[in-house]
Amino acid sequence: MTTPLIIPLPGNDALADALVHAVAGERGALETRSFPDGETYMRFATDPRDRTVVFIATLDHPDPKVLPLLFAADTARVLGASRVVLVAPYLAYMRQDKRFHSGEAVTSVTFARLISQAFDALVTVDPHLHRYPALGAIYTIQCEVAHAAPLLAGWIAANVSEPVLVGPDSESEQWVGDVARRAGADYRVLEKQRFGDRNVAITIPDLHDLKGRTPVLIDDIVSSGRTMIEATRKLKAEGFIAPVCVAVHALFATDSDAELKALAGRVVSTNTVIHPSNAIDASAAIAEKLQRLI
Ligand code: R5P
Repeated sequence: MTTPLIIPLPGNDALADALVHAVAGERGALETRSFPDGETYMRFATDPRDRTVVFIATLDHPDPKVLPLLFAADTARVLGASRVVLVAPYLAYMRQDKRFHSGEAVTSVTFARLISQAFDALVTVDPHLHRYPALGAIYTIQCEVAHAAPLLAGWIAANVSEPVLVGPDSESEQWVGDVARRAGADYRVLEKQRFGDRNVAITIPDLHDLKGRTPVLIDDIVSSGRTMIEATRKLKAEGFIAPVCVAVHALFATDSDAELKALAGRVVSTNTVIHPSNAIDASAAIAEKLQRLI
């Protein structure tokens, strides 16, 4: 068996280095640049012939990243790669999982089809599964999912005294409960109503028995930031100290991270998306899943 070739797309070098080390892979090089008209130039500086090629590309703000990724996967095949694997710590386009209004694109399905056609296998971290039971409901390739719950629980146990974990909505209950059990902490779940992309309302149940504890708000994705920001405001208005906000995937649109940082006790995230709040390293969990594929 040949050594897998690990190739980062731009911005993914740190994780690529960690994975090269963890799975005893070889770091490959892909030259990319933009032509003056905005089209992508690409050249493999390492020969992928007869190799398993692993592309590292986290897919926050995905649209400008996806076309170069598809070019890279297709070119690897044309140049003779034996297997083409994608490591996408944050997997985009999981949230539009239903046609809510007539004529809408169910982009999760179309995106899954595109990725499944281009790659033989996929590794990701906690994809946003709401209406789908598993990635296999829409992806037709082998999928390995790393879970952040043990990492979040370890961080909370080591860094927060007397925590009570708080999920912002009913969707979050299953995995906030899992993190809480692992951290040996209580948890509660709030109620969320979403009125638009940047408009949510949070309702807090009776939490008087938890006063004096440190609330730890946990969410899988922070996108517009409104969920975390509104939940933080409500908890403070109830008399809790400023919560610690923990996210798996720190997308943080516009300047919502500054707004949340000003309200919260602390904001932390895993490094599935590169962001100043990164404090929890997911690379070992990703490497363990990748090892199964190579
Ligand atoms: C919802 O389904 C997710 O778990 C997150 O709560 C949501 O994506 C957060 O979005 P935003 O930061 O835009 O409120």
